[in-house]
Amino acid sequence: MIEYTSLLQNYNLFKEEYEEAALRALRSGWYILGPELEKFEKDFAAYLGVKHCIGLNSGTDALILAIRALNIGPGDEVIVPAGTYIASVLGITENGATPVYVDATDDTLLIDPAKIEEAITDKTKAILPVHLYGQACDMTAIMDIAKRHNLPVIEDCAQCHGSKWNGVLTGTEGTLSCFSFYPTKPLGALGDAGCVCTNDDELADKVRMLRNYGSRIKYHNESIGRNSRLDEVQAAVLSVGLSHLDECNEIRMKLAEKYLKGINNPKVKLPYTNPNATHVYHLFPVIVDDQKAFQDFLLSKGVKTQVHYPIPPFLAECYEGTDAGKGEEGKKLYSNAYYIATHEVSLPIYSGMNEADVDEVIKAVNEYK
Ligand SMILES: Cc1ncc(COP(=O)(O)O)c(C=O)c1O
Repeated sequence: MIEYTSLLQNYNLFKEEYEEAALRALRSGWYILGPELEKFEKDFAAYLGVKHCIGLNSGTDALILAIRALNIGPGDEVIVPAGTYIASVLGITENGATPVYVDATDDTLLIDPAKIEEAITDKTKAILPVHLYGQACDMTAIMDIAKRHNLPVIEDCAQCHGSKWNGVLTGTEGTLSCFSFYPTKPLGALGDAGCVCTNDDELADKVRMLRNYGSRIKYHNESIGRNSRLDEVQAAVLSVGLSHLDECNEIRMKLAEKYLKGINNPKVKLPYTNPNATHVYHLFPVIVDDQKAFQDFLLSKGVKTQVHYPIPPFLAECYEGTDAGKGEEGKKLYSNAYYIATHEVSLPIYSGMNEADVDEVIKAVNEYK
């Protein structure tokens, strides 16, 4: 059986280094807000070429705190892709603000920049593009719109560590960028973790305060914050991951190249990458006529797959009857995003995957009728 992913195979690539780093942190006697986090924050900021990285306990918290740092709340609107993982939208609704969805393009499957401007109202307070699947969004168009409307940009970089638009790393052009280090991500911890990056000193300071109960000085709580700190063991593990990030991205890009060359089936639409973007293939999404039939067929050939994401946020049960829930109308308003949700299937791809397994998957996909 070819698994959809194997965290253990990813772990085994750098097992000794991970274990040495984790033991170092465990034996230090310092577990929260210590030297391992300081080092990782400094190194990740340097990798991106930004001034600040603030380690947090998840990508979801990164979105919540980035939006809170911009003072966005009830009555405010934030533009977000209609096709994304729900966490992008939770960052907005957890602050009491309203998501305004923009449909996806039918080629990149990312937010359609041509539809952003018409979604802007006098209540719009930010644009939140998501570099979904590992491909960079059109940041030229997005930054141009944001500048013309004087809006901050919050990049959701949960899936795109190391990808570029026009040679510029994602997570460096927006006002704030939000990364997840969930274990499957291009840069993954061995538990939950995330961060916010920014070049803005004031916003960095605010996120740092918000992650620590809303306090800069112990017991002086100036804002309603959270406890959202990236712990020392995960920071140590992430420093190992960061030193291999480009190498792991290269591995997945090579595996993706093999899929792109080897899959030749008119019933399977392969991922398209904008020539100005790089794609680090956190996922390898294909579009098929019949999601279930395709997944069942591959499973019968010993290949496990997943769907990202079968229920778009605008149809999520938790948003029914709220401004964030669009129901049947949403299926028409965001027809590309809805089509993707009901026709996308992700093939196995992960840095510990071997090429022989990729060949098996290609063979099975080409046999699908
Ligand atoms: C696009 C996107 N945004 C945000 C998140 C949230 O990250 P986390 O799982 O670390 O909270 C994820 C993670 O799954 C994601 O895929």
